[in-house]
Amino acid sequence: MQTVKLNNGTTIPAIGFGVFLIPDDGTCQKAVEEALSVGYRFIDTAAAYMNEKGVGLAIQKSGIKREEIYITSKLWLQDYGYENAKKGIDTSLKNLNVDYIDLYLLHQPYFDTKGAWKALEEAVGEGKIKSIGISNHTIGFLEKLLPEMKIKPVINQMECNPLFQQKKLREFMSPFDIKMQAWYPLGHGNRELFENEVLKSTAKKYNKSVSQVILRWHIEEGIIPIPKSTSITHIKENFEVFDFSLDEDDMTKIRAIDKGVGSHNPDNLSIGETLLKAYKIHD
Ligand SMILES: NC(=O)c1ccc[n+]([C@@H]2O[C@H](COP(=O)([O-])OP(=O)(O)OC[C@H]3O[C@@H](n4cnc5c(N)ncnc54)[C@H](OP(=O)(O)O)[C@@H]3O)[C@@H](O)[C@H]2O)c1
Repeated sequence: MQTVKLNNGTTIPAIGFGVFLIPDDGTCQKAVEEALSVGYRFIDTAAAYMNEKGVGLAIQKSGIKREEIYITSKLWLQDYGYENAKKGIDTSLKNLNVDYIDLYLLHQPYFDTKGAWKALEEAVGEGKIKSIGISNHTIGFLEKLLPEMKIKPVINQMECNPLFQQKKLREFMSPFDIKMQAWYPLGHGNRELFENEVLKSTAKKYNKSVSQVILRWHIEEGIIPIPKSTSITHIKENFEVFDFSLDEDDMTKIRAIDKGVGSHNPDNLSIGETLLKAYKIHD
């Protein structure tokens, strides 16, 4: 499995499997089992997805050694602040039924991120978490939080795809060697992305699907995509991206389709309250 080296010396698989919006009624467990059987070794869940248990069950059932699977989960806003975060980490460990989590993220950049980050740093010291990172942190949030951090984040999980390439943020993070991890790597199924002429002609050139070209673009840019699917055909297709590569001309053409705008703007500060109301994970 191709990997990416992180700023703390650990490595992460170059592609992961995301489980956002996959219900924990057996569907999530089944999708993760399928992903593991196809070859994925990196699963991205979150406390707010309410499906950590299904992820844990699939991992146990797979029979694959724990150390061969890379698990990411995320602390939800309800568990922010130092004391709450310590409990939130323990709840994720319990739900996943594991002794450690490979990567744990601050899911959102609002409220007491400083206290929550301190709890994450301590959990690294205690061996509960191997690496810590952030999500949805734009440059402004990073400028405030980075000076408070004893441990620098290994990744920032952001909306990112060929139509929203996050060039400025990636440039800002480069000196810290914080890697970009892409949520909505396939644009959440956005038709505009799938019907883009540059992507379609590139797919034709390599006899690959548009989805495979998009994922290959991420990997060649050093971005770590975590596509989601509940279709076995798509799960398999999205993993078959290591048998071809894009040349510099393809990369230049795809870099040029960036629109610089995504579906979500974390800098809108009312989002924190909205999300907190929308995802209540303890009641
Ligand atoms: N940190 C955050 O705030 C945040 C926010 C959103 C998401 N995420 C993470 O990022 C992951 C990915 O995001 P996402 O699931 O929302 O979007 P995505 O992976 O960009 O797109 C998933 C959509 O694309 C479809 N799809 C998947 N493979 C396809 C293929 N080969 N051809 C055509 N359609 C395909 C899926 O449908 P089918 O199921 O039918 O295949 C689904 O509708 C999430 O699961 C989650 O782990 C994180």
